[in-house]
Amino acid sequence: MKKNPTLKLLPLLFFLTGCAGGARNDVPLAAYQDATLPLEERIEDALSRMTLEEKVAMLHAQSKFSSAGVPRLGIPEVWCTDGPHGIRPEVLWDEWDQAGWTNDSCTAFPALTCLAATWNPAMSALYGQSIGEEARYREKDVLLGPGVNIYRTPLNGRNFEYMGEDPYLASRMVVPYVQEVQKQGVAACVKHFALNNQETRRLSVDVEVDDRALYEIYLPAFKAAVEEGGAWAVMGAYNKYKGQHCCHNEYLLNDILKGEWGFDGVVISDWGGVHDTEESIRNGLDMEFGTWTDGLRSGTRNAYDNYYLAHPYLDLLRKGAADVNTLDDKVRRVLRLIFRTAMNTQKPFGSLNSPEHLAAARQIAGEGMVLLKNDNGTLPLDAGSTKRLLVVGENAVKMMTVGGGSSSLKVRHEVTPLEGLRAAATAAGCEVVYERGYVGDPTGSYNGVTTGQDLSETRSEEQLLADAVSAAKEADAVLFIGGLNKSWGQDCEGGDRKEYGLPYAQDRVIEALAAANPRLAVVLVSGNAVAMPWVDRVPAVLEAWFSGSEAGNALADVVFGKVNPSGKLPFTFPVHLEDNAAHALGEFPGGDSVRYNESLFVGYRWHDTKAIKPLFAFGHGLSYTTFEIGNLRLSTDRLDADGSLTLRVDVTNTGDRPGAEVVQLYIGDDESFVPRPVKELKGFAKVSLQPGETQTVEFGITPASLSYYDDTKGAWTAEPGLFTAYVGAASDDIRGSVDFTLE
Ligand code: GLC
Repeated sequence: MKKNPTLKLLPLLFFLTGCAGGARNDVPLAAYQDATLPLEERIEDALSRMTLEEKVAMLHAQSKFSSAGVPRLGIPEVWCTDGPHGIRPEVLWDEWDQAGWTNDSCTAFPALTCLAATWNPAMSALYGQSIGEEARYREKDVLLGPGVNIYRTPLNGRNFEYMGEDPYLASRMVVPYVQEVQKQGVAACVKHFALNNQETRRLSVDVEVDDRALYEIYLPAFKAAVEEGGAWAVMGAYNKYKGQHCCHNEYLLNDILKGEWGFDGVVISDWGGVHDTEESIRNGLDMEFGTWTDGLRSGTRNAYDNYYLAHPYLDLLRKGAADVNTLDDKVRRVLRLIFRTAMNTQKPFGSLNSPEHLAAARQIAGEGMVLLKNDNGTLPLDAGSTKRLLVVGENAVKMMTVGGGSSSLKVRHEVTPLEGLRAAATAAGCEVVYERGYVGDPTGSYNGVTTGQDLSETRSEEQLLADAVSAAKEADAVLFIGGLNKSWGQDCEGGDRKEYGLPYAQDRVIEALAAANPRLAVVLVSGNAVAMPWVDRVPAVLEAWFSGSEAGNALADVVFGKVNPSGKLPFTFPVHLEDNAAHALGEFPGGDSVRYNESLFVGYRWHDTKAIKPLFAFGHGLSYTTFEIGNLRLSTDRLDADGSLTLRVDVTNTGDRPGAEVVQLYIGDDESFVPRPVKELKGFAKVSLQPGETQTVEFGITPASLSYYDDTKGAWTAEPGLFTAYVGAASDDIRGSVDFTLE
């Protein structure tokens, strides 16, 4: 057999590649570079090689959004990015201004109030994976989000970035987001830890809250993010607690976060949240960002050596006035972050502006929109029989992805409500006409990103109203699309809302439209509850949130019935502001300090206990079909201290179209020795059902579900005695209850 010439070459090939390979493998990897070694071993090896200067340099910013690695050892820098809803465009090295890149447009996902309103952890997982992929593709190591501060007042300017008023809902919804972001090799940085529930005097306000409210209301979502989500980073809040700034707070960071919860990640300051070197060293801060360094009052260029954890810290160390062990603990945490992210050789490669991300944004938005009211089947509109649809309102045309503070974005594209409605309606032969109705904020820019929209208007307020009303008289149906708009004071970081009502005299426009055409639906684009003095004269109301790049398409899906709404409110809409606990007790926004006198009676906990009927309740949301919830049955009505019981309940789609219902479980302690709310959310399940279909939902109840934080013992405690399990479709729509006893 003729020898294959190639075969003769094989030995030579082996020799050459062997040598080449041998040459490549001759230099042994240092332990810290060897991804096959245990994390802790790599950390100790890297630490042992670092100088004092290199250790300190790792603990503070070197630019607006990055901190130094160790160039000499090939340990990379750490790059952070906002924000909770999408990946912020690149800024200059040392300024907030735009860097002017042309490859950093992104997908804007719906605001986190919308995600929470889905009451669907699977949507949270989809959200975390999608935004994590965009952060990864943009080569970011830390995503500065999600935010899980509790919704204490409807006036808080940043509520749209958070997950509502209930700690259990926020806990269930934050965990998948964190887990999925981190699967991309990007750290989630859960914020703002803790008690950042208002923007007024946010940099200094000292929050006074009792331990039960702290542990039962304000900490649980952070605890879940750390203990169940495995968060690799936590951001300290700007405000104070017990007189110490939260970015260097011994109680929150040392005792609770790193002590009780065993957090092994890094505590990153909010930008400009650090005020003291000694406290930062002693009280658990690991990385300092955004400090104003010239005299500590205004920014100057390249003054990063003046950071509290920079030269001031180095000087103390060199004088032996600071403990190297404390330094090494901080450095170990930063190295752990780097090995989990920048030096993680297993991480995927991410993706940006993909069709999948737009589809995810649209799906989450559609599933998060909440149908608050729908009399006479006003919605969904039948595009086929609606020959002329009038759309009124500035929020139908105004881009909402720009503005609102650090969560502002530069998107690849954004479908406005009018664009989405037109695209869907035209296909069905329905003419869509538009009237401005009112002028809100015609500007559209933040940090140098501009929407490019021309929203200028020459008509007077009276003319705008008259034009809208006359158009309404000619239309088959009218959609008013208004709400808030992330302008200053209208759901925006850095300031709170000044009023509970809709701005820009929208109420007057809504009243006039209701008088002109009974087939009116009001669509609110917002991140907060608002007053609705017109609600009895408007047959349909839909909360559409700030819902991102696919806002218009998601809205059209719901308005025309392609998507059957299944969202539920993550916070209460009080009728009047004074019906809200913080306002009823007069402690908002406070002065140098703010007292949470309502304690744990936040949101529906207050409304239930004080029997104050809300405008729309926590957990409320309608569907285009109807559901029956009933046949509650317990596995046993006696729960042992170390046992569990199962509550089963049937839910049936009694309507004529597929839909999803969120079955909610609340539990009340009927024989409590301490003040407790009437009932508290302890379980929920979203169930998709075909018409006529019934499914059984199971809830596991354990003593942990019944516990309160006993501040006299510093421990969670469940009191033996009688409890009631309530099951319903909203906190004010209970369909059945059963009693059981804790032994
Ligand atoms: C901002 C915000 C924080 C953000 C950070 C960086 O002031 O409070 O949420 O991540 O600074 O922009």
